Amino acid sequence: MKDAAKGRFLIGTALNEAQIRGLDTAGVRVVREHFNAIVAENCMKSQPIHPQRDRYNFDAPDRLVAFGEQNGITVTGHTLIWHSQLPRWFVYNDDGTLRSAEELKAIMKEHISTVVGRYKGRIKGWDVVNEAIMEDGSYRRSPFYEILGEEFIPLAFQYAHEADPDAELYYNDYNMWAEGKRNTVVRLIGELRERGLRIDAVGMQSHMGMNHPDFAEYEKSIEAFAAAGVKVMVTEFDMSALPTSYVGADLAGGGIDPARAMNPYPDSLPAEAYEAWHKRMEQALEIMLRHSDDITRVTFWGVSDSDSWLNNFPVRGRTDYALTFDRGHRAKPIVARFIEMCREIPADKK
Ligand code: XIL
Repeated sequence: MKDAAKGRFLIGTALNEAQIRGLDTAGVRVVREHFNAIVAENCMKSQPIHPQRDRYNFDAPDRLVAFGEQNGITVTGHTLIWHSQLPRWFVYNDDGTLRSAEELKAIMKEHISTVVGRYKGRIKGWDVVNEAIMEDGSYRRSPFYEILGEEFIPLAFQYAHEADPDAELYYNDYNMWAEGKRNTVVRLIGELRERGLRIDAVGMQSHMGMNHPDFAEYEKSIEAFAAAGVKVMVTEFDMSALPTSYVGADLAGGGIDPARAMNPYPDSLPAEAYEAWHKRMEQALEIMLRHSDDITRVTFWGVSDSDSWLNNFPVRGRTDYALTFDRGHRAKPIVARFIEMCREIPADKK
């Protein structure tokens, strides 16, 4: 995949603990063969990397960065400021009250300069802020927002830039096809730039499913971000083949086992469901290839289907089929199709 996409965008994947430690040898083989970009699925988030105020865990992140360097793979950092997988001490005092604005700023600065500074010159770019904006365009009521208001975002970008002036800086979020979110992100890009702050790209997570997103809206967002003057990155691409929601009572009333309804393919994906999945993957990849003048990286959220977080989200213990390599690390037909599409589909020239 990475060779086929050369000159268009990097092809990335997220590495889990077993891959970072080299225990998942089959997974690591696939990474070397098909991907030229990596990101940590978890180990660089604030909770795992900075569990206590005076303690950092750099073991796994150091290995990930070294693996990238040894294999000529671009490494990006995920993520500096996020309300989830965030240690409590970061935003709360011991008595459970929110930290003061001054204290939070000092903690953010210390965290960002330590983490970014450690990998200065070795990590190409950072997801500086993750998931700060809601679909309706309002700001998420996270502790960061409660304490600092919208200001926490420019501050995070400023601290990251100070720690590594050469690193690219990204704003990353999910459901980027939502109009309200799109508009606020465009406004945010303008506000950061007006203050002379660096922002290089917007990361569109791109967790997709059989009924979302509406591809026309997804494409509109790519175009809106590009028009705002930044690059676009597809940062956490996957395509769930499973139903996203159901009304338990209706199913029970209809004599359908709700557990089975939510986990319909525990053994394998039937041909018809696979074809529907393949078709949506093709549509998504086609859009990305057409926009490859603006898109600089397409990263899948995991290597093989067995690694995917979607096996446990939004419902625990399911069997999903969201990635391009199956549970036996075999390339699905979408991989060959993607390679073909790289030859067939020209980029829309701006
Ligand atoms: C997920 C990981 O894949 C899981 O292993 C973890 O338990 C929870 O986080 N948005 C993000 C990612 O930005 O960091 C999340 O990753 C998926 C949603």
